[in-house]
Amino acid sequence: MAEFTLPANSKVGTGKTFAAPAGAKRVKTFTVYRWDPDSKANPRLDRYDIDLDACGPMVLDALIKIKNEVDTTLTFRRSCREGVCGSCAMNIDGTNTLACLKYINEVKGDVAIYPLPHMPVVKDLVPDLTHIYAQYHSIQPWLQTETAPPDRERKQSIDERAKLDGLWECILCFCCSTACPSYWWNGDRYLGPAILLQAYRWLADSRDEKTGDRLDALEDPFRLYRCHTIMNCTRTCPKGLNPAKAIAEIKKMMVARR
Ligand code: SF4
Ligand code: SF4
Ligand code: FES
Repeated sequence: MAEFTLPANSKVGTGKTFAAPAGAKRVKTFTVYRWDPDSKANPRLDRYDIDLDACGPMVLDALIKIKNEVDTTLTFRRSCREGVCGSCAMNIDGTNTLACLKYINEVKGDVAIYPLPHMPVVKDLVPDLTHIYAQYHSIQPWLQTETAPPDRERKQSIDERAKLDGLWECILCFCCSTACPSYWWNGDRYLGPAILLQAYRWLADSRDEKTGDRLDALEDPFRLYRCHTIMNCTRTCPKGLNPAKAIAEIKKMMVARR
């Protein structure tokens, strides 16, 4: 049987421990992945014991408290702190989700926090999104028309507009793509669930007039057809969306136009 070993420099070591302040009564431990490209050291897991009586209820509250009061070197992305910007996506307690929407008390035991899986890491909890944003650009995510613009806005019926529900809400957090085994293994060429949901968002838009070109661009053994309906994407989406269904709808459009 084949045996695989990790390269020595990718083994995760034990890091520092930061104890809770004396007198803290409700203490929760957060173990956080740390990696600094400027040091030659391996990644490590640091432990932070946090007094929950002096912390907000969300995992993001704990990370901000650590950054502000315990260890300013900790690096993570966040902006809106209410589940609309997508920047605080990370792996918490084994699941990709948004730190600002994840309640600390949903996690039994220690709270393990890692960056989104199978992405290059810039530092600590910050994944490098360069490639996935290039993939997003490749699907041309904007309205494209051929007819002359009308005097007023391009109208939709209520039913046409309703077809975009479940699609426009995507915040591009990439929890789904980084939970998809097909994207792990073929992410260089497979577009993955987040980008394909976005591609369908424009295919489903009654005002867009480039449907044929958009389908041509997806008609490829890798870009679309590496989805094997494993459904990890839909299970993990913190916005309750269904990228696997969007992918299935694209495949149906491919069949229908043959
Ligand atoms: S359904 Fe498709 S896109 Fe979603 S996790 Fe499975 S293979 Fe990936
Ligand atoms: S479909 Fe859900 S998990 Fe995927 S990028 Fe959009 S909001 Fe995030
Ligand atoms: S901080 Fe914006 S989604 Fe979490």
